[in-house]
Amino acid sequence: MSEPRQILVTSALPYANGSIHLGHMLEYIQTDMWVRFQKLRGNQCIYVCADDAHGSAIMLRAEKEGITPEQLIANVQAEHSADFADFLVDFDNFHSTHSEENRELSGMIYTRLREAGHISTRSVTQYFDPEKGMFLADRFIKGTCPKCAAEDQYGDNCEKCGATYAPTELKDPKSAISGATPVLRDSQHFFFKLPDFQAMLQQWTRSGTLQDAVANKLAEWLDAGLQEWDISRDAPYFGFEIPGEPGKYFYVWLDAPIGYMASFKNLCARRPDLNFDAFWNQGSSAELYHFIGKDIVNFHALFWPAMLEGAGLRKPTAVNVHGYLTVNGAKMSKSRGTFIKARTYLDHLQPEYLRYYYAAKLGRGVDDLDLNLEDFVQKVNSDLVGKVVNIASRCAGFIHKGNDGVMVAGDAAPELTEAFLAAAPSIAEAYEGRDFARAMREIMALADRANAWIAEKAPWSLAKQEGRQDEVQAICAQGINLFRQLVIFLKPVLPVLAADAEAFLNVAPLTWDDHRSRLENHSLNPFKALLSRIEPAKVQDMIAASKEDLLAAEEPKAPVGNGELHKDPLSAEVDFDTFAAVDLRVALIVKAEAVPGADKLLQLTLDIGDERRNVFSGIKSAYPDPAQLEGRLTMMVANLKPRKMRFGVSEGMVMAAGPGGEEIYLLSPDSGAKPGQRIK
Ligand code: 2FM
Ligand code: ZN
Repeated sequence: MSEPRQILVTSALPYANGSIHLGHMLEYIQTDMWVRFQKLRGNQCIYVCADDAHGSAIMLRAEKEGITPEQLIANVQAEHSADFADFLVDFDNFHSTHSEENRELSGMIYTRLREAGHISTRSVTQYFDPEKGMFLADRFIKGTCPKCAAEDQYGDNCEKCGATYAPTELKDPKSAISGATPVLRDSQHFFFKLPDFQAMLQQWTRSGTLQDAVANKLAEWLDAGLQEWDISRDAPYFGFEIPGEPGKYFYVWLDAPIGYMASFKNLCARRPDLNFDAFWNQGSSAELYHFIGKDIVNFHALFWPAMLEGAGLRKPTAVNVHGYLTVNGAKMSKSRGTFIKARTYLDHLQPEYLRYYYAAKLGRGVDDLDLNLEDFVQKVNSDLVGKVVNIASRCAGFIHKGNDGVMVAGDAAPELTEAFLAAAPSIAEAYEGRDFARAMREIMALADRANAWIAEKAPWSLAKQEGRQDEVQAICAQGINLFRQLVIFLKPVLPVLAADAEAFLNVAPLTWDDHRSRLENHSLNPFKALLSRIEPAKVQDMIAASKEDLLAAEEPKAPVGNGELHKDPLSAEVDFDTFAAVDLRVALIVKAEAVPGADKLLQLTLDIGDERRNVFSGIKSAYPDPAQLEGRLTMMVANLKPRKMRFGVSEGMVMAAGPGGEEIYLLSPDSGAKPGQRIK
């Protein structure tokens, strides 16, 4: 037997300012399946991740919510951790880039780079928001496209004509944060001298560390010549101050990958069997793999190996790149309800359905993966329920009825036993090479053979015949042994199904090597349904709930602005005419009821004097007993364009304050106000 390998694995660190969705899950699920496979094989495999907590987006979002960045990232970390756990993504550690370990390691790596001469400084001229007192990243500047004159375009590219430009080329630039006209200002920036590593990267990217398609893309960049990388940002910034440089901060992308190391270091502190340096020092025999999406290849396959090299540390063994998720053949869309949050999925469906579907469609390439929801239902039901679980449910009853739950000894189908054994190395090789789709195809082909053999033997007919009980028992014991092998092969993908099967089989947690043995003269526990079919209605409910997520996110916001002035209603100024155009009225809530099939909506019937309006509002979380609202007055926007929703047309919007959840407060006028009165 070969020595167990030492393997450290990471998935990209999710930003700490948004929810995890099914696109993210494509990465975490595939990484988790690969890690579970390694563990099942007896290797020491450690899977770390963290929230990516720094940057101006997080700083501004916290400010907008009226909380500190620390509070925001703590809230988001709790949400992310729960989502991952419930999708059975089993990190050995989930940490944060805003941690002491990361501060130390970032400082250490930066200092080593500086001492080795890989850091330069020079003055950079950038737009500065004089009202907000901060430099503006390109996406925080809006203005008129210099090429096609389209208004309201971002600072680096035009969505209308596709032109790319410097923010200084924008006509009539405005800060997207305050609306102020930005001014140009100079400031000293720190650069990482990436060109110092050109030769190393040319070699490293071609040394089996990357998929061919990725290496080819990088070759284009390498051939074009590398630029120095700006790694500093000026205060105010949420991040780590650069050692010895007050007011200068590390750019979020500098300390993000170091966050992989920091999470591992944090784990080492409570795992005496792990030695941090043994994994990270140059010449380490441990393997290091990063799983990432194709949008962040430059950070992981250029900047990161160069930083590691420059700091005298080991480089990744490989960077495994995957494509994007599409749903029903298109980009995930909020209005179509296909922008599905992890939690929304979990509210309706079991995690293993999606884990299996992703596995069945994931190859080694960088192609996008389509979650076709009809195919999803069909494939999961047919493969997992119809093929795999079916074997156990067909055989278990006869063993319990005919032999007190004891599996008899003997091999009733040596050719099948042989075929299952022979398939194992190829399935293992497919997992190892991240060709999950091939692994699933081979496993399902075995399941098909097992089912065909059982159907041919038809123990259910034999059981009705006199004197054929031994044959029935031999067939069913064989069926359960084949089922057990399939469970081992599927265990990296379906950990809960495997645990439930182990309970039924009455065995200790199965390892990969257990596929070579069989159960004989062995007592089973009673069989309970291991996995139920996906009901298509549940998928529909999930889509409806995803549309609602969108509404709930939109509704509590202030009803001012035409959406074209600024994206952020809180910092938008509206002129008087725009304000005057809003028809605000006192409304009497005549009826308030829950909407069947909608988790967050209430349906309100509002009396506004001369007419009644039907309004759907995402306030159910604060008013679980809607009847309590009946008879009270509130305020509504009466001239909002009617919106067609799944449940009907919404003819206006009621006004409420608060961050959401239980904290939504419907506004009310003083007593004496009459339904229909206009607010002036
Ligand atoms: O693109 C992203 O979502 C980043 N937060 C990924 C960071 S990965 C690593 F480098 F930290
Ligand atoms: Zn343009």
